[in-house]
Amino acid sequence: MPWPSSRDYELFGYIADERNRQNTTLQLIASENLVSPAVLEASGSVLTNKYAEGYPGKRYYGGNVHVDEVEDLARERVKALFGAEHANVQPHSGANANMAAYQAVLEHGDTVLGLSLDHGGHLTHGSPVNASSMLYEFVSYGLTGSDERIDFDELAEKARAHRPKLIVAGATAYPRIIDAAPFREIADEVGALLMFDAAHIAGLIAGGVHPNPVPYCDIVTFTTHKTLRGPRGGCILSRSEYAAAIDKAIFPGTQGGPLEHHVAAKAVAFREAADPSFADYARQIVANAGALAEALAGHGFRLVSGGTDNHLLLVDLRTFDEECTGAVAQNVLDRAGITLNKNTVPDDPRSPFVTSGVRIGTPSTTTQGMRESEMAEIAELIARTLRGRDDDAVVEAVRADVADLCGRFTPYAD
Ligand SMILES: Cc1ncc(COP(=O)(O)O)c(C=O)c1O
Repeated sequence: MPWPSSRDYELFGYIADERNRQNTTLQLIASENLVSPAVLEASGSVLTNKYAEGYPGKRYYGGNVHVDEVEDLARERVKALFGAEHANVQPHSGANANMAAYQAVLEHGDTVLGLSLDHGGHLTHGSPVNASSMLYEFVSYGLTGSDERIDFDELAEKARAHRPKLIVAGATAYPRIIDAAPFREIADEVGALLMFDAAHIAGLIAGGVHPNPVPYCDIVTFTTHKTLRGPRGGCILSRSEYAAAIDKAIFPGTQGGPLEHHVAAKAVAFREAADPSFADYARQIVANAGALAEALAGHGFRLVSGGTDNHLLLVDLRTFDEECTGAVAQNVLDRAGITLNKNTVPDDPRSPFVTSGVRIGTPSTTTQGMRESEMAEIAELIARTLRGRDDDAVVEAVRADVADLCGRFTPYAD
């Protein structure tokens, strides 16, 4: 073989370290999960060798007979999973999926309504630092001041005033159900198309614990690596009438050769998500988030919107300790082996680099088999760390307790 025979200890050492980190610390980042060995196997397969620009049956290069089978299988599985008319499984990421979806149905300068970043929207929903807002005229809607839920009155008013070509539903830090029906009503009233970015909740939809937006939407985009528990990547579902435009917007519009090893791993994940056990998993994710929310509230934390209906909680730290910013909390919890991310809370006076809150999710710990009682333990570990954040001994003691907890639920033992 022409490949070097010596093992790359340096690189594989880092990977071993990362596996050890995932085995021994708590992964509470709401957008992460722990994939199955079958997903890992497919994404590490020889499909990485193949160029396959184009789509099944219409490739630019030869030798794609098996790649076509793989991609067709992925497309059919995901269409069946969500009840969609068309699927494009090639987006390299959620951001790529969103940009291609915009390119498929919008002209430069068209008006789009999206949830504002500081109320839980994603960068690709019109943040000033993202290409979405440079190419299109984004107008933001937000949450109500009273119950911190999507403000449909404001959305309707803005839709009537701005007559958008597209309304984008979906969020990156929103702990409640997002019902597509009222979005559809408003879109129909003003003649707008409706796109739902289901990046975070795709697995909850597949598992039947969140309403499916597909019947209401022209386009649904999502990532495959969050609650859906697949490889890193994106996917676009659409009505048949947008199929050709979506496919063209991905290739040749915005991407080159598809990552067929990832398409294969997506196919594996779609099959896993169709298994009845995945519905149990999705139910447990939500039950765990509810238990964690309740336990954290008991320790004095304020939950944005008062709780959660999905896989994540947005925690306002100010009621617990006015001085404890999201950045401080993220750093000290990291030292204690509890991984989560700082997050702005609605109308946060602090910058996105500092923040007054943290976002916490339960997909990974639920994959490990943790349940409500472990969520109460985790809430106690978080509260203990933040209270004792200036005392290294407290942080070290929590880290040992975290390792002990993870030792009972090791995801990648071998
Ligand atoms: C709602 C939403 N859309 C899109 C994305 C982008 O996904 P990716 O990081 O794969 O580009 C995210 C990522 O967190 C997201 O939360």
